Amino acid sequence: MSFTSIIYNTEAYWKVLRMRELVLRLPLGLRFSADDIEKEESELIFALKTDSKIVASCQFVISGQTAKMRQVATASAFQGHGFGRDLYLYCEDQLKKQGIAEIYCHARKTTVPFYKKLKFEVISEEFEEVGIPHVKMKKTIM
Ligand SMILES: CC(C)(COP(=O)(O)OP(=O)(O)OC[C@H]1O[C@@H](n2cnc3c(N)ncnc32)[C@H](O)[C@@H]1OP(=O)(O)O)[C@@H](O)C(=O)NCCC(=O)NCCS
Repeated sequence: MSFTSIIYNTEAYWKVLRMRELVLRLPLGLRFSADDIEKEESELIFALKTDSKIVASCQFVISGQTAKMRQVATASAFQGHGFGRDLYLYCEDQLKKQGIAEIYCHARKTTVPFYKKLKFEVISEEFEEVGIPHVKMKKTIM
């Protein structure tokens, strides 16, 4: 397996998008819209992959020294084996090298224990996104 940066609108990008749609959207009865996809052009996208499969992916919207992490997903067949954590730690290292000081995310409530293990803390009340409860979480990395 290897970590990789994903370039927008390449074959690898569409593979990542398909995996994310299966894991994050279809279970909620949702799809990505053309507008959702267009917005991703300016994001930093990372993945953990085998020769043929996307194992996990996540992406970042950068603003100054802050990065919003979004679309964190591990393919169903690979969940629970530490791959989500491995990919996050790789990304954190990459972002540190780019001078990012803080990462935040809107975490689904069901995944708060995952982010707590990565040393994120909850910094908001509960709110709704894509029809399910979320909280804002953040981690200072520098
Ligand atoms: C949440 C998700 C990204 C975690 O990825 P993963 O590769 O399965 O997680 P890992 O195996 O790296 O887990 C790391 C640790 O977090 C724990 N963990 C992971 N998901 C958890 C959950 N939902 N609840 C409680 N603990 C969780 C693991 O047990 C592991 O703990 P350990 O260190 O004691 O062994 C993945 O399960 C997923 O894609 N879920 C569906 C999509 C989703 O909800 N994404 C997040 C959107 S905010």
